[in-house]
Amino acid sequence: MADTNDTILLDREADGIAIITVNRPDKLNALNAGTVRELDRVLREARDDDSIRVIILTGAGEKAFVAGADIAELSRMGPIDGVSVSREGQATFRMIEALPKPVIGAINGFALGGGLELALACHIRIASTRAKFGLPEVKLGIIPGYGGTIRLPRLVGRGRALELMLTGDMIDTEEAYRIGLVNRVAEPEALLDAARVMARKMIANGPIAIALALESVDRGMSTTIDDAQVLESNLFGLLASTDDMREGMTAFLEKRKAEFKGR
Ligand code: COA
Repeated sequence: MADTNDTILLDREADGIAIITVNRPDKLNALNAGTVRELDRVLREARDDDSIRVIILTGAGEKAFVAGADIAELSRMGPIDGVSVSREGQATFRMIEALPKPVIGAINGFALGGGLELALACHIRIASTRAKFGLPEVKLGIIPGYGGTIRLPRLVGRGRALELMLTGDMIDTEEAYRIGLVNRVAEPEALLDAARVMARKMIANGPIAIALALESVDRGMSTTIDDAQVLESNLFGLLASTDDMREGMTAFLEKRKAEFKGR
């Protein structure tokens, strides 16, 4: 475990899972510029560490996942800083979305503004029954600037996204689950274990297949169906060159569990 004074903690567990924790609980884990930069650095470290297969992203303390960008810091920005604050956050969150290993958001409390945008950049969201979700930026006279206007409509549809964005209302986990904003719900004390259970299922599968499934979905979401199909077929074909494909299919035919090597 990293130094507990760090704003972002990276905790490597024994079985290929890494837990990344946003750690400013006294400010409800609000993201200031330093925290976003640290998150960026830690994510690169986790991306480049072959022993890490799945990342679980969560917030420190019982109250918040992340209660947004740091309003104290934002209140001092001018227009040029505003653009760069947004661009930096967007780049870090985009890196999460484009990561070749799964990122599961374990939403343990408030996921507001930049916190909801961070959750949206994760591949999968599991929420505690105590979580709350919202994009309250318009209440502050701004708009979501870390990809929320882009990802929320793609996930829950334009009408629902605009309702959240234009009212600034918070919704609870039940409603978030109903509209497809979160994949699963867990009791607060069972949240991280629920994420670990899902992570272990992914870790048992072929890592190259996992990475290429992520890539095919990520690129496929932002291009035409025809181009996405070309990419999908190329990635599908590429997998036929791997030992893992042979192992997966042989194991099935021999009625045993596959032992993937990531080659
Ligand atoms: N930026 C900076 N500080 C924040 C913050 C944010 N986004 N969210 C919470 N904090 C700080 C509070 O200022 C307070 O600090 P203090 O103890 O030094 O005064 C501390 O975190 C605890 O928050 P508090 O507001 O006292 O908790 P609460 O339980 O009364 O309310 C919320 C919780 C989440 C409803 C409330 O903190 C809130 O509305 N936060 C802002 C959410 C937001 O607008 N996010 C979008 C930003 S773009």
